[in-house]
Amino acid sequence: MFLLAFETSCDDTSVAVFRDTELLSLVTVSQIAEHTKTSGVVPEVAARLHAGNALGALEDALSKAGVALSEIDVVACTANPGLVTSLLVGKTVAKTLAETLKKPLLWIDHIEAHMFANYLERDESDIRFPAVCLTVSGGHNEIYLWKSMFERELLGETMDDAAGEAFDKVAKAMGLGFPGGPVISKLAAEYEGAYRGIFPVVTLSKDSLDFSFSGLKTAVKREIDLRIAKNGTLDVADMREISFEFERTVAEILSRKLFLAAEKTGVNNLVLAGGVSANDFLRKTIADRSEREGYRFVCPVSKVYSQDNAAMVGILAYYRFREGK
Ligand code: KG4
Ligand code: ZN
Repeated sequence: MFLLAFETSCDDTSVAVFRDTELLSLVTVSQIAEHTKTSGVVPEVAARLHAGNALGALEDALSKAGVALSEIDVVACTANPGLVTSLLVGKTVAKTLAETLKKPLLWIDHIEAHMFANYLERDESDIRFPAVCLTVSGGHNEIYLWKSMFERELLGETMDDAAGEAFDKVAKAMGLGFPGGPVISKLAAEYEGAYRGIFPVVTLSKDSLDFSFSGLKTAVKREIDLRIAKNGTLDVADMREISFEFERTVAEILSRKLFLAAEKTGVNNLVLAGGVSANDFLRKTIADRSEREGYRFVCPVSKVYSQDNAAMVGILAYYRFREGK
C-alpha cells in the first residue's frame, strides 16, 4: 500500500510517501528564513508560503520515492490543532487529491502524530503500553497516559506557554533567531560553568501534572534586562550562561512531571515527543533517570521526527488505516 501524507499545521510544508510502514521519501520545506525576520510565525505569511511550496514538495516527494500519483492508495493530512490558515492549505491539497484519485482520506490529529513519530524506523512492538507520553512543542505541552495504540487520556497540560514557546521567547529576548530551541541548546552546550539554579523550577503544586512556563520566561527576561542595565549590553558569555540555566530549568520541570506521572499511574514505559524532544539535554536527563530507576524510555530515533514533519502523519495514518480507525 502506498500512502501520501501532508503536514502544514505551522511553518513547515512537509510531504511524505510510504510503502506500508517504510518511509520512502520525506520532503520538508522550511520557512525559518522568513519567520526569523519577525522572530516568530506570522500566520498569514506562513499560509502564503505553504500555498507556494505545497505542490513543489509533493512532486519532489513522489519523485524521490519513485512512486506515481496514480499509485497512491491512501491520502492523509494533519487537520488539527494548528494555525487555521496553514492547516487549510494542506487540507485543500489533500482533499483535492483524494477526491481526484477516488482514494480514502484520513484527517490526522497533530499531537497524536507527534506521539506516533516514535514508531518511525521502529518495530511496532517497540512501543509498549501502557505508557506515559510527554508531548512538548512550540504550540502545545501535555502529558498523556497512552493506554493502547489509539487510546489516550490527558493527565496534564500547560496553563500558559508551552516549553517550546518559552525557548522561542527567551531567544527573542536575547536577540537570537527563530526557532529558539536549537540556538539556546547550542549556546548552553558552550557554557563551561556549573549549574547555579538562578531561575525558578515552577511546578505549580507538588502533586500537579500541569505546567506553567510564563513565570520562568518572565524571570529570564528580568535577568536579561538586569544584565543589560548593568553592563550596557548582553555579551556571548551572558547568553551562554542564561541559555544553560534556562535549558536545565526547563528539563528539570519537564522530567520531574513525566516521572511524577509515571509514579502516579504506576506505568513503566516513558515516551517523549514533539519539537522540544529534539533537545539533547532533555533526552539525556530523562534517559539517565530512566536507567537509574528502571524505566523503559523511548524518543524519536531522529531529531527530524521530533519536529513537525509529514512522516509522523503518514505512520499514524498507516496504523489507523490498517486498524480501520
Ligand atoms: O513540534 P514542533 O516542530 O512544532 C509545534 O508543533 O509547535 O515544535 C517546535 C518547537 C519550537 O518552539 C522550537 O524552539 C522547539 O520546538 N525546539 C527545541 C529544539 N528544537 C526545536 N526546543 C529545545 N531544544 C531543541 N533542540
Ligand atoms: Zn508539532
